[in-house]
Amino acid sequence: MKLLVTGGAGFIGSHTSLLLLEEGYDLVIYDSFHNSSKKVFKRFEKILGCDETYLTKRIKVIEGDIRDRNLLEEVFNYYSSSGDSITAVLHFAGLKSVSESVIKPIDYWDVNLLGTKNLIEVMAKYECYKLVFSSSATVYGSTSSSKITEDHNINPQNPYGHTKAAVEDFLTDLYNSNDKWSFAILRYFNPVGAHSSGQIGEDPFGVPNNLFPFISQVAIGRLEKLLVFGNDWPTTDGTGIRDYIHVIDLAQGHISALEKLLENNNQIVKLNLGSGKGHSVLDVIKTFSKVTGVDIPYEISNRRSGDTGQNVADPSLSKKTLGWETKRTLFEMCRDSWNWQTKNPNGYN
Ligand code: NAD
Ligand code: UFG
Repeated sequence: MKLLVTGGAGFIGSHTSLLLLEEGYDLVIYDSFHNSSKKVFKRFEKILGCDETYLTKRIKVIEGDIRDRNLLEEVFNYYSSSGDSITAVLHFAGLKSVSESVIKPIDYWDVNLLGTKNLIEVMAKYECYKLVFSSSATVYGSTSSSKITEDHNINPQNPYGHTKAAVEDFLTDLYNSNDKWSFAILRYFNPVGAHSSGQIGEDPFGVPNNLFPFISQVAIGRLEKLLVFGNDWPTTDGTGIRDYIHVIDLAQGHISALEKLLENNNQIVKLNLGSGKGHSVLDVIKTFSKVTGVDIPYEISNRRSGDTGQNVADPSLSKKTLGWETKRTLFEMCRDSWNWQTKNPNGYN
């Protein structure tokens, strides 16, 4: 079965693509490489123990922008006219930085919303009606609930979150308009970690914004110290609590969601992908130091603008709907992030 994976070279897309290959799916990966490296596919060969000839039979990599409608049409047309139509799409391509979205809202609306509209139009033309979409827990905005369920208010607080919520609405409208569409809208909590081989992982350009890549770079000596954004939150130790999810658990959640869409037509599911467990920034620092044996220098600083104190999923609906739950612990997330970082101190370069 042929699947289109947009953004398949990125952090979550690459781990999911690898698992999809292992499950026997053939892939067309469509990525602009705006925030990723082509080198990731060489790493697939190492992990799968195969050569380039085998891999090129299983994956076709297309460098393109999801806003390029002509190129998307060419891709769908090529597979449909060769009798090997694309059955479903996993749509990871998008821009994802909250802080950048505040400065460049036009880019975020253009790529995240108009890019998705483009994709949907081309899918409809070629009668491909199943899509797994990367949404985010950021759509919930600030919350006072100890664990967030899917029926929580949607109230994003920044342009990035607005674009994710808008795409969710768009897909819901499509589902209501025509009984051919099926969507799995997956709201990720905090994806971290890396493949256990250390061959693929998160490779942010520039100084990282997120906690895990930042701590890894402090531990390896590329950055001097971690700033902890506030110790006055109403949490157990005053630092921010998040629901970290190992990227391989997350990738497996996508396979379960895809299988659900392939089982039956005309469904829409909106699901939290998280562990249901919260860890504070100090918990993460402590576990990271234990795993690596390296002291993590840190300093308490002011709260970061736009942050919330606690953001933890109630993952029970995902378990009930998909039979999926996370398996990997914070220790394994730190171990695998560190393994990736030490084997690739400069990422893919
Ligand atoms: P990433 O930046 O590593 O991957 C996104 C991929 O999309 C990259 O390979 C990038 O080159 C590609 N891309 C960007 N713009 C494109 C365009 N216009 N056309 C084609 N390709 C384009 O990010 P990720 O962490 O793997 O995130 C994947 C998806 O999950 C994104 O939609 C993101 O918003 C969402 N998400 C991520 C997180 C997170 O913390 N990582 C949390 C919630 C949701
Ligand atoms: N933190 C620090 N210092 C840092 C970086 C982060 O103390 O240098 C703290 C934050 O204040 C927060 C926690 O570590 O308490 C996690 O922060 P991240 O930046 O790693 O993650 P966020 O929860 O802020 O946001 C992430 C993604 C969003 C996504 C959200 C929910 O960046 O895009 O998870 O999925 F929407």
